[in-house]
Amino acid sequence: MDPVALIVLVVFVVLVGLVLLAGLILVVALARRKPVKPPPAPSISAAPKVSPIPCAPSPSRPSPPPLTSHTPYLLAEGGSLHGQPLRIQPAPGGLTLGRGPDNDVVLDSMMASRHHAQVMPEGAQYVLYDRDSTNGTYVNDQRVYRHTLAPGDRVQIGDCVFTFVAPGQPVPKPSAPFASRDLAQQYHVRTTFDKEYELLELLGCGGMSVVYKAQDTAGQIVAIKILDVTDEWVRTKFIQEGKIGEVLRGHPRICSVLELRRSSDGRLYLVEEYIEGVSLRKRIGAPMSPDQVTSVTGQVCEALHFAHQHNIVHRDIKPENIMIGSDGMVKVTDFGIAKLTSSVTITKDRIVGTPEYISPEQARGDEQIKPASDIYSLGVVLYEMLTGRLPFDRPRSGEEREAWYTLIRQHIKEAPTPPSRLTPSVTPHLERVVLRALEKESSKRFATAAEMAQAIGYDSSTVRRAVPEPALQAMQLVVVEGTAAGKTMPLAETDVEIGRTQLDPTNLMISRRHAILSRRGQAWWLKDISRNGTWVNGQRVYDQVPLDGDALIEIGGAKLRLMPQPGEA
Ligand SMILES: Nc1ncnc2c1ncn2[C@@H]1O[C@H](COP(=O)(O)OP(=O)(O)O)[C@@H](O)[C@H]1O
Ligand SMILES: [Mg+2]
Repeated sequence: MDPVALIVLVVFVVLVGLVLLAGLILVVALARRKPVKPPPAPSISAAPKVSPIPCAPSPSRPSPPPLTSHTPYLLAEGGSLHGQPLRIQPAPGGLTLGRGPDNDVVLDSMMASRHHAQVMPEGAQYVLYDRDSTNGTYVNDQRVYRHTLAPGDRVQIGDCVFTFVAPGQPVPKPSAPFASRDLAQQYHVRTTFDKEYELLELLGCGGMSVVYKAQDTAGQIVAIKILDVTDEWVRTKFIQEGKIGEVLRGHPRICSVLELRRSSDGRLYLVEEYIEGVSLRKRIGAPMSPDQVTSVTGQVCEALHFAHQHNIVHRDIKPENIMIGSDGMVKVTDFGIAKLTSSVTITKDRIVGTPEYISPEQARGDEQIKPASDIYSLGVVLYEMLTGRLPFDRPRSGEEREAWYTLIRQHIKEAPTPPSRLTPSVTPHLERVVLRALEKESSKRFATAAEMAQAIGYDSSTVRRAVPEPALQAMQLVVVEGTAAGKTMPLAETDVEIGRTQLDPTNLMISRRHAILSRRGQAWWLKDISRNGTWVNGQRVYDQVPLDGDALIEIGGAKLRLMPQPGEA
């Protein structure tokens, strides 16, 4: 064969080989690539499940003018905007919500569309429009396209939730943060928890915990506080701090911690003495006599003095942690654990806890927190019992973080308004006690809690007499407005359920089982179990509230009043 032809042949064979090899490599590489999943179809039929909202106010818009009682707004629930009012501007402004940065409220939610929804003032009404969103806008779990907002309407966009607050409507109390409410939804009453406890009743939600009344296998009634803590460092600390409860167990003014345990599903929980009664939070607001104020303060001082003698500082004295039994006995809860569940922490982007009761030294972040800090916080509680107001309160408008800083600055620097200027009946004696407890410099406050009890004139032998419970009257509910007007429903020892059947069988705003009235100690309580909400004295009920003597209950279009049964007035 011609050598030139041979070389050409060899080169040709080599080239063909290389091309085949490259092709083979390409085929293998393509075969190893994962198939691309088609994106999930957006669900538009049912309201999506709600989780804490990741929302942020638009950085480009200036902060709105101060809020008045005549400014309508959407109140954000959960997420970084929790508790913030989102003001609806007068026409033609309104309020726009969506994922795009050009909205008044920028929603950081994948479920939200760029321009998702808008609230527009129309005459005296506020109308919510869905702006052709992919996943829908929901009001009270119904999809809406155009909806005239009613006070208390619950608006859901993606995973963000807002409550509509109408002009002049009382500002709703901030609801419990989402974390613990979600936790409460995981554990239902009348089921078994951790194999040993039957959960009987939801008592309340704190910032990081939910508390149930429960019964163990031996029939003992206890309170179970399930903690919503996933951070391993906090969990470890918690177990250490839980031991504090053991040191203080058995003191008559301190809620006994019986055990700290870890459930089979990995939750930390405390088994505590169950306290029949209400927290002081439920008592403040109604006027308290000087005797009652002295008794409650003195009893808290007894608990604090005992703990301080054991080198334990409570750190979170506030009305929620002061329980008043039906016999007038006070018990302080959350010793030792307060530091972890309720301490105030301001991080770059989040504020945890409630700084309304914080001492100046805690506010400054001093390392060493002394018993005097508890005395200061008790001073704030005392001020509130006397005047119904806080000595320092945060501004309710503007940026949330700024508002908290303002409050903390006041605790550090400003003198409180003397309580007698707000409530003239406050005696000079009580005024001196409260102002001394509120001294900025800890050395100027009472040296011990026992000294404070003495100064206020507390005599432990008068406890039962000082906080008398009124004898329980036979009460009834009277429908004062609505289809069933005039109807009466007597309240009984057993729970009374009200719903659509009793009030208006054709009104779909009323749930079949809407609310439950039950007697607890010396009070009647209302528990909301409805879809669309229950209002008591103009405030929406989250979970349950005690009712005062002539409480006005609103359900759907019906209004009911709590009244003594005839012959009982
Ligand atoms: N041992 C207890 N017995 C009865 N009720 C309790 C007990 N501990 C707490 N509670 C109720 O549960 C609510 C939630 O408690 P907690 O989780 O400590 O949060 P907070 O103290 O911030 O309200 C309290 O406000 C109180 O009404
Ligand atoms: Mg508590």
